[in-house]
Order: sequence, then structure tokens, then C-alpha cells
Amino acid sequence: MQAGDMTGKAVLVTGAAAGLGRATAIRLARAGADVAIVDIDAANLAETAMAIEMEGVRVLNRPADLAARENCLAVVADAAAAFGRLDALCNVAGIMIPSHTTSMSAEAYEKTIAINLSAPFYLCQAAIPHLLETDGAIVNVTSCAAFRGQAYFAAYCATKAGLTHMTKALAMEYTHKPIRINAVAPGGMMTTLASNIRLLEDGDRSLLSRISPLRGLVEIDEVAEVVAFLATDAARAFHGACLNVDKGITAD
Ligand SMILES: NC(=O)c1ccc[n+]([C@@H]2O[C@H](COP(=O)([O-])OP(=O)(O)OC[C@H]3O[C@@H](n4cnc5c(N)ncnc54)[C@H](O)[C@@H]3O)[C@@H](O)[C@H]2O)c1
Repeated sequence: MQAGDMTGKAVLVTGAAAGLGRATAIRLARAGADVAIVDIDAANLAETAMAIEMEGVRVLNRPADLAARENCLAVVADAAAAFGRLDALCNVAGIMIPSHTTSMSAEAYEKTIAINLSAPFYLCQAAIPHLLETDGAIVNVTSCAAFRGQAYFAAYCATKAGLTHMTKALAMEYTHKPIRINAVAPGGMMTTLASNIRLLEDGDRSLLSRISPLRGLVEIDEVAEVVAFLATDAARAFHGACLNVDKGITAD
């Protein structure tokens, strides 16, 4: 499973300031793609932009808060305008706020839905017309949490299950078009998002440990390789799939 040649093609990667999004953006640049990168964290996004430039491709550094629909639509329009085309959309940005359900604020709940579920929908809405022109691809990053009930993550689990199923519905809607729409469901990776689990101070440890991987964490680059692969024509046989990259978490 290796990304195909993306020379002359253009991709948009969200959540590219850190973790999986940054690794995916750099991997696709290495495959030859011009890359539009989006994140709310402008400082770290600029570092990703520098790493992409070193690969000798063009980069559009586009900080944005994807919690707002108009920003989702604008970043797609800007990416397509900057490069004159769009060949892939990788929806990687996400947040995870651990909480006892009864104490989760409405703000935290709605932010989780907005970034993890609504933003990918609006980004897909805006990107699909461009991707239909290029026979392009969408890759939605969901989670092993889409398949396992994780205590203290009800909102997060709901968004990831929703995004996984949204991927399948979109794949069916575009069955008769060459566009490809897939998902990747990672297991635990050592990123800022995963370390947020520590924010929950009074959770039941036995329930929290249920989400610990039996075979250790997944390397960020291992997951980025799969996301990048699905974004390229090398994955022409994949449509409506969700690839679990989780070292067996979802095997039981
Ligand atoms: N780390 C894990 O263990 C794990 C496991 C399964 C799935 N995932 C998923 O992988 C994806 C990437 O997460 P990661 O682990 O690399 O975490 P990360 O925190 O390193 O990266 C997430 C990025 O999303 C950005 N982001 C957050 N809110 C945003 C907003 N409103 N607008 C724009 N960008 C915003 C952050 O600034 C950050 O750069 C997420 O969708 C996450 O749910 C992660």
C-alpha cells in the first residue's frame, strides 16, 4: 500500500498543523502533489508549509477555523483557485474532549460535532464538484472509536461513527462517477489529541484502559501512508471502504 504519483495534482489536507494531518500533507507533497493545508493553529501550520516547500511543490498555507461552515466552503474555493484544480480532499482535523456525559458543556459537545462531523460534510459539499472534474478522491479520517463504545467519549464516538457512515452514503451517491470516497479509522497514535485523555481526572481507570491497544500505539506515519494511498489513483479499487489501521483494536 503506497501512494501513487501525484505530480501535477493538487490536494487539500485539514488538520495539517500537527499529528496525522501534517504527516499526510508532507507524504502527499513527497508524492508530487501541490498541497493546500488548513488548520486553526496558524503557527504550527506555517512549519508544515515550510516542510512541504522543501519537497519542491507548491503550498497554500490557509489557516482557518473549520467549526464555521463558511470557512469550510472558502478553503475549498481558495485551494481550487490557487492550483487550478483539486484532486483530493483529506479530512483529518478533529478534536476529542473526554468528559463524563452529564458534565459535558453544550459548547464542548457542539464544538465536537462541528469540527468532527459537520466540517467534513461541508468540505465534501464544496469539494465534490471539483473532484468530479478530476476523477479525484475524498479520505475521511474517523477512528476505531467509530466501532467501539468508549466510556467518556460519547460525543466523539458519535461523530466518528457518523463520519464513517457518511463516507459510505457518499460512496453510494457517487457510485456511477469515477470519484472515490473512503475512510481511515486509526487506533491510538501519540498526538496532542490522544494526550487529552489525561484531562479526565476522575474517570474509571478500568474503563479507560479498555481503549489501550494490545499491541502498542500506531505510528503516525503508518496511518499517513494509508491516508495518502487512498488519496491517489493507486487505490483505484477502493470506494466506500473504511480501512482500520489500529493494530487489532477493532478485532475483538
Ligand atoms: N491520535 C489518536 O490516537 C487518534 C486515534 C483515532 C483517530 N484519530 C483522528 O485522527 C485525526 C488527527 O488527529 P491527531 O491525532 O493527529 O491529533 P492532533 O491534535 O495532533 O491534530 C488535529 C489537528 O486538528 C486541528 N484542529 C482542531 N480544531 C480545528 C478547527 N476548529 N479548525 C481547523 N483545525 C482544527 C488541530 O489544530 C490539530 O492540528 C483526528 O480526526 C482524530 O480524531 C486520532
